[in-house]
Amino acid sequence: MTKRANKQESLDKIKADILSSNICADLAAGAKQLIFGGDNPDAEVVFIGEAPGKNEDEKGLPFVGAAGKFLDEMLEAVDMKRADVYITNIVKYRPPGNRDPLPEEKIAFLPYLKAQLEVIKPKLIVTLGRHSMDALLPGLKISECHGKPKRYQGQVYLPLFHPAAALYNGNMRATLIEDFRRIPQVLAKT
Ligand code: URA
Repeated sequence: MTKRANKQESLDKIKADILSSNICADLAAGAKQLIFGGDNPDAEVVFIGEAPGKNEDEKGLPFVGAAGKFLDEMLEAVDMKRADVYITNIVKYRPPGNRDPLPEEKIAFLPYLKAQLEVIKPKLIVTLGRHSMDALLPGLKISECHGKPKRYQGQVYLPLFHPAAALYNGNMRATLIEDFRRIPQVLAKT
């Protein structure tokens, strides 16, 4: 079995564990499906968003709405494709009405996110927005640390603004694009 197939099998087991657990039962009951993540289980870079929205809930994939289109554009600008990277969220069921994930929901999903990262073993973890950053890099302020690579417990992170927040905010959008362009340099140094 290839390394990639091995990793995919381990990720499938984590997904099955979530589905057979009673985790966030209220969220699960209100959502169409679990949005686990994809594409490349052997990726060097993992992107972690907040939670699925309406489009993601319908399609079963992360970042497939407007924010996802923007993410695709930024990936293309650094010569990357979705097939090269792995994209997931801290919370894996759509919160009702697209509200922010609750602290207890982030806490409940964190062990599963950590298990995913343990399997993928990326060189770089890019957090998108404060929810995934808070879960993995507690105590930081996104306004101060965005675009600055950070090594924490042996892992390299790059905290970025969330593409949905930056989509219609000119300054934040320009900053996110500039920060995003650092990914290849950060990877080259890691
Ligand atoms: N926003 C997120 O944080 N995640 C998604 O999957 C889509 C939008």
